[in-house]
Amino acid sequence: MKIQNSVALVTGSNRGLGAAFVRALLAAGASKVYAAARDCKGITEPGVVPVSLDVTRPEQISALAQEIGDVNLLINNAGIGGAGSVLSPDSLTLLHNQFETNAVGPLRMAQAFAPLLARHDSSAIINVISALSWATLPGITGTYSASKAAAWALSNAMRQELKAQGTDVLSLHVAFIDTDMARGVPGEKASPDEIARMTLSALEAGESELLADKVTESVHAGLTSHPPMYLGMMG
Ligand SMILES: NC(=O)c1ccc[n+]([C@@H]2O[C@H](COP(=O)([O-])OP(=O)(O)OC[C@H]3O[C@@H](n4cnc5c(N)ncnc54)[C@H](OP(=O)(O)O)[C@@H]3O)[C@@H](O)[C@H]2O)c1
Repeated sequence: MKIQNSVALVTGSNRGLGAAFVRALLAAGASKVYAAARDCKGITEPGVVPVSLDVTRPEQISALAQEIGDVNLLINNAGIGGAGSVLSPDSLTLLHNQFETNAVGPLRMAQAFAPLLARHDSSAIINVISALSWATLPGITGTYSASKAAAWALSNAMRQELKAQGTDVLSLHVAFIDTDMARGVPGEKASPDEIARMTLSALEAGESELLADKVTESVHAGLTSHPPMYLGMMG
């Protein structure tokens, strides 16, 4: 689909990659951008319509879908990190919160917005996933990786089911981006603006999955290496 003249909705758009998506959409000629956030106070860019949304609140999602009917591009960007051992007593709370935000939230958004997307000749969903959907940093990302693996599977299922109504689904997989979420991670990180631009270009090119950096490409290749990377080589 083309970004020019599209009407987009970006979740978690008040900072990080979400804010970069808003900038990239405007630069690429979107006619309207709904910038969804739990706290919209800082969203003041001209041409942007701030909308209040917590993706873990189903009633807010359905109210928003009733309020804005003109969206033809949904970007499921909102997400939470959080690190720890899967065997620690706190891990179930972390797992629950990460699943609600990173996997269930995007699914609820897709359920609510799919009928609105179907009204357009051209429509799409971008799901922001992660290289960590395919690998785990031992003792650190077990629950996050599980939530992103679920998000990946759900994104694939959405693509299959939305094909009939002509809605494209693009999964973005990326390693580390220079945002608050990866602040404590040492080493090279991708620019959020660059990742947002690349993702919109991939959507325009009709791609279904974007492996946005070399680390992600190597993690993906590691799924079929011998031994596969997920058996422990990330550690
Ligand atoms: N940074 C990385 O290295 C990296 C790598 C791969 C994938 N990702 C993914 O990229 C996406 C964006 O992350 P980021 O790097 O931009 O992280 P970030 O800077 O921490 O921003 C996260 C955004 O998600 C929002 N959010 C969190 N929970 C929410 C909820 N329940 N409802 C609505 N919004 C919510 C936050 O809003 P508040 O300001 O209200 O908290 C914030 O706007 C996430 O899905 C993340 O998993 C990030």
